[in-house]
Amino acid sequence: MVGELVVRSWAARLLRVQGALTEGAQNAGMSAAPAPVRHTVLITGASSGIGAALAHCFARDGHRLVLVARRADKLQSLADELKRESGARAEVWPADLAQPGAAADLVAQLQRKRRRVDVLVNNAGVLEQGAFAGQGAATHQALIDLNVSALTALLAAVLPGMQRRGFGRVLNVASIASFQPVPGLATYAATKAYVLSLSESLAEELRDSGITVTALCPGITATGMLELAAQANPRLAALPSFVIGNVDEVAEAGYRACLKGEVIAVPGLVNRAATLAARSTPRWLLRRVTGALGRQLK
Ligand SMILES: NC(=O)c1ccc[n+]([C@@H]2O[C@H](COP(=O)([O-])OP(=O)(O)OC[C@H]3O[C@@H](n4cnc5c(N)ncnc54)[C@H](OP(=O)(O)O)[C@@H]3O)[C@@H](O)[C@H]2O)c1
Repeated sequence: MVGELVVRSWAARLLRVQGALTEGAQNAGMSAAPAPVRHTVLITGASSGIGAALAHCFARDGHRLVLVARRADKLQSLADELKRESGARAEVWPADLAQPGAAADLVAQLQRKRRRVDVLVNNAGVLEQGAFAGQGAATHQALIDLNVSALTALLAAVLPGMQRRGFGRVLNVASIASFQPVPGLATYAATKAYVLSLSESLAEELRDSGITVTALCPGITATGMLELAAQANPRLAALPSFVIGNVDEVAEAGYRACLKGEVIAVPGLVNRAATLAARSTPRWLLRRVTGALGRQLK
């Protein structure tokens, strides 16, 4: 009799634990549950590269998408492709996020149409290479406007709603350039250091709130951004293939880390080794090494 009671009590406990796990998996949008939760995912910079690849990951698992970038035609063909491939609902919201007020405006318009954002993917970004002093102030400002200001404004507009609902996922696309200064990419690397720092702070501020914040830190990845950089600097085109990441693998790693709520995701063994080395090297030495590498690539 006592034995039976003990067994029943353990069985009840196990059922409660199993129930909690299933709820957690549903919240994360995982496919373990019979009726997975469909989240609304806002992806910036979805018209190409890592953003478009991330859209495929979220669409595959049945989430609704809000696709943002400047090129409306590219967004529309992606939305059509996602519908064909996985039946996903994807809305196209063309916007130039580097314009002052554009990010807040976008979220206000979404709210007016009763679209809530469950997952924010802050991916849009631009890169300029070359000596800092050789570029005008407007070039540096343009990088800061998109990579820093728009990303921050979107977070500020979206996080209060996530807090009220007690659920949210944020994926901020940083870079391995976030971990050290990069002479020749000075402003770009500084904007990405900001993205990593902000993501880590928010992840901790929002601990136990139901909201997770992930910084995806890709290394060099085969996208339009690399093509443009290689046009300006042919030495980049001659980089060995093992240092160049595949865009779908990078997106998949970011997607999984975002669902799991991991704080920092560095895709690829070479990149993980590089960031580990950067973190354990004295700053003065790191500056000299990245400076020497930058001069070699000139
Ligand atoms: N490729 C790499 O080696 C690498 C490495 C580390 C990190 N990253 C980061 O990954 C992210 C995605 O870059 P990617 O490599 O996929 O390059 P990409 O193909 O050039 O994608 C950049 C995206 O940002 C959008 N965008 C640019 N300016 C915008 C603006 N003013 N308003 C709205 N959207 C804008 C672009 O769309 P429109 O032109 O249509 O606006 C495009 O969809 C960036 O944050 C980048 O810094 C890339």
